[in-house]
Parts: sequence; C-alpha cells; structure tokens
Amino acid sequence: MTENPMLVNPYSVKKVQEETYDTFTLELEPGKGVQAPSFAPGQFNMLYVFGVGEVPISISGDPATPEMLVHTTRAVGTVTNAMRKLHRGDLIGVRGPFGTSWPVEEAKGHDVVIVTGGIGLPPLRPSVYHLLSKTQDYGKLVLLYGARTPEDIVYGREIDQWHKRPDFSVDVTVDRATGQWRGNVGVVTTLIPKANFDPANTIAMIVGPEIMMRFTLPELQKRGVPDENIYISMERNMKCGFGFCGHCQFGPFFVCKDGPVFRYDRVKPFFGKGEI
Ligand SMILES: Cc1cc2nc3c(=O)[nH]c(=O)nc-3n(C[C@H](O)[C@H](O)[C@H](O)COP(=O)(O)OP(=O)(O)OC[C@H]3O[C@@H](n4cnc5c(N)ncnc54)[C@H](O)[C@@H]3O)c2cc1C
Ligand code: FES
Repeated sequence: MTENPMLVNPYSVKKVQEETYDTFTLELEPGKGVQAPSFAPGQFNMLYVFGVGEVPISISGDPATPEMLVHTTRAVGTVTNAMRKLHRGDLIGVRGPFGTSWPVEEAKGHDVVIVTGGIGLPPLRPSVYHLLSKTQDYGKLVLLYGARTPEDIVYGREIDQWHKRPDFSVDVTVDRATGQWRGNVGVVTTLIPKANFDPANTIAMIVGPEIMMRFTLPELQKRGVPDENIYISMERNMKCGFGFCGHCQFGPFFVCKDGPVFRYDRVKPFFGKGEI
C-alpha cells in the first residue's frame, strides 16, 4: 500500500483499447513527480474520474512492469461509463495498490488452475503473466475461461497467443454461440472435469460473479482439490479501500484489506450467504 492511502495520484491516459462492446482497457502513466508503485497480482486500485467518483478496479497489467499501469473495466454505471469516455492525455486519479494477492509464491511446485468468467479474467491476468514468466517453478498451468457469448471474450488476441504455448493449457467456452464460433458451448464449470491437472497438488484461483464461483467450487472439490488450495476473489462496494470505512464488510472481514483474494476455507462459512 502507498504511504498515505488517501493520496490521489494523477496519472494520464496513454492508450485506450476497446476489448468488447462494453469493456475497455486503459494504459496509464504516472503524472509528473509520481512514482508508480510495484503491485502484486490480484491487487486493485481506486480509480477516480475527476468530478464523477471513485471505483475499485483490479490491476490487469504485468507486475514486472508496474510503471505501465493497466486496468480493464466493464462500463456498468456512473463512474465506469464516465471512465469509458476518457481519451489519450486525459487525467485520472489513482490510489493504491490495495488488497491481498494471488498465492503465486505458495503455488510454486504445484499445478495451477485458473477458472474465470466474464470480466474475471483481467484481475487474474497479472497472475498469468507471472506464472508464464516462471513456468519452471510450477507444474501444469491451466486456464479455463467462460464468457456469455464470443463477443464478450476479453483479450481475444492474447488468448490466441496463449493457446500456442506448449506450457499453458487454455480452454475457452461460451454460454451461447454466435457468428463463426466453433469452440466449446456451455458454462465454464463444464471444462473442469476434463482439464488436465493433479487435483491433490493443485492451487486453484477463481474470479467471476458469485454465482459462477458457487458452481465452480463443488466441481473443483469433486475433482479432489482441497479447500485450503482454492483461492477466490470477492467484490463488494467500496469507499476508502484500506479498511477504514467499513463499507466492504464481508462477515468478519473487510474485502478491501483482508481480500479481495481469500483462501476459500477461511471464508467458507460466509460465502454465498448474500450481502453479509
Ligand atoms: C476489488 C474489486 C476489484 C474490481 N475489479 C474490477 C475490474 O478489474 N474491472 C471491472 O470492470 N470491474 C471491477 N470491479 C467492479 C467495479 O468496481 C464496479 O463495476 C464499479 O464500482 C461500478 O461503479 P459505477 O459507478 O460505474 O456503477 P454504479 O453506478 O455504482 O452501478 C450502476 C449499476 O451497475 C450495477 N453494478 C455495479 N457493479 C457492477 C458489476 N461489477 N457488474 C455488474 N453490474 C454492476 C449496479 O448494481 C447498478 O445497477 C471490481 C470491484 C472490486 C470490489
Ligand atoms: S472500503 Fe472502506 S473498509 Fe473497505
């Protein structure tokens, strides 16, 4: 975390990339006198669209190059729609990085299975970059990704590149096929039974809507992945981002400080119980 978590640092938009009809990626560079902090895969920033508001967005770039800050956002409401209207050279405020990270160190020597749906891939992309840069430290690396339709797939070109790697097993499915889609059809959980990994020696990382995570957990458990090897990332509305305001309460936890990445066995009693 930065020294003063309330301090909003100005960044400028270097590039805007349309990912899908409602999702875009901003590449940001630090403003004058701002030193971009390092970040761990899974952490998020509070992004402030000046005069509109502030929202938590995961960092989706490469942790090896923190000076190039990357965020991929789906435009769903007031702030994210305003963010979508930013252009190259515009300013945006950044606080962070905040929160816990994916267990990329603990996963050394294990197979790693990433299961994600929709806009859940951006929060996991820093992990993918890290794992792919150190494949010798890990066993099998597997990415299972589900999107509503082919038009909802983010990072399509990058996924094609990942597909070509012999050391990365990537499987994508869509709920509903449209256009030229000839790939898997079905929810992401249908990919789990046939995925190639050693369940007892696997670390699983999951991000998606809570309903998707609720169905993914039993599928991994059926394969024999122990609860203590499963990590999930939670979302709650946030205000401060660093454990001060209580806005993001989740059972006895604050998602901004104790999460967003949680080891599943630690939050099991509270998971799936609605807004507790
Ligand atoms: C730790 C953390 C990391 C996150 N990382 C990302 C990320 O990398 N990319 C990203 O796009 N989002 C991410 N989010 C979600 C993002 O913060 C919200 O989408 C955002 O706060 C919405 O703000 P808004 O002002 O645009 O929408 P609001 O005006 O607050 O909401 C407008 C409408 O959208 C609905 N809504 C709000 N949030 C969502 C949502 N997530 N999905 C669907 N509908 C929603 C509301 O129910 C409401 O009806 C993250 C959230 C957390 C807590
Ligand atoms: S957002 Fe304030 S405590 Fe989490």
